[in-house]
Amino acid sequence: MITLQLPSVAFKESYVAAVREFHADGNRQAEYYGVLDPEKLSDQTYFGNYVASLERQRLGEDLPDGYVPATEFWIITDQGLYAGRVHIRHQLTEYLRKFGGHIGYNVRPSMRGQGIGSEALQFGLQEARKLGFESVLITCDDDNIASRKIIEKNGGVLENTIPGEHPNGAMKRRYWVTL
Ligand SMILES: CC(C)(COP(=O)(O)OP(=O)(O)OC[C@H]1O[C@@H](n2cnc3c(N)ncnc32)[C@H](O)[C@@H]1OP(=O)(O)O)[C@@H](O)C(=O)NCCC(=O)NCCS
Repeated sequence: MITLQLPSVAFKESYVAAVREFHADGNRQAEYYGVLDPEKLSDQTYFGNYVASLERQRLGEDLPDGYVPATEFWIITDQGLYAGRVHIRHQLTEYLRKFGGHIGYNVRPSMRGQGIGSEALQFGLQEARKLGFESVLITCDDDNIASRKIIEKNGGVLENTIPGEHPNGAMKRRYWVTL
C-alpha cells in the first residue's frame, strides 16, 4: 500500500497539497509543516533546493546548531502520492533523548485512519536497522492515542512518562523498540 522513498522533486505536486492540508488542519503534533510555505514550494527551483537541503541533512552537511544528521523518508502511496514523512535521527541529543526520540512520523490529514502510520513506522524501523541501530527511542504525547497504538503495535516498550517540553503541554511517553 505504501513505500518509503527518499525525497524527490517527482512528488512536488502532492507534497505541496499535503503542506496546505497540514496548515488547514493546524495540528500541534505536526509543527514541521508550519514553517513551510506552499507558495514558495510550488516553484520548481525552490522545491529542488528544498529536496537538496534534506539530502544535505542526511549527509550531515550544513547542519544548524544543535541538529544531528537525519534521514527523511517520504511515505508514498501506490498511486505515487505523498502521504507523510518518517524522520530518522542518526544520533540523540539531550533534547531528543528526552522528547524527540530517534524516529518521528506523520500522515497527512486526508489519509489518516487507513493504517498508513502503522505501516510507515514498521518500514521506518527496517530502515533504522539498515542504518545500524539495534534499538530506537520513539516518543509521543500521552494523549496521542493513534501514535501510542502505532508504537505499541510495532514493539514499543514503555520506559517512562515524563513532563513534555511545552509548558502546560501533554506528558511525553518514551518507548524503546528493539530491532
Ligand atoms: C499519529 C498519526 C501518524 C496516525 O496516522 P494514521 O495513518 O492515521 O495511523 P493508523 O491508521 O495506522 O492508525 C493507528 C491506530 O490509531 C487509531 N487511530 C487513528 N486515528 C485515531 C484518532 N484520531 N483517535 C484515536 N485512535 C485513532 C487507528 O484506529 C489505529 O488503531 P488500531 O491499531 O487499533 O487499528 C497521524 O494521526 C498524524 O500524523 N498525527 C499528527 C502527527 C503525529 O501525531 N505524529 C506522531 C508523533 S509521536
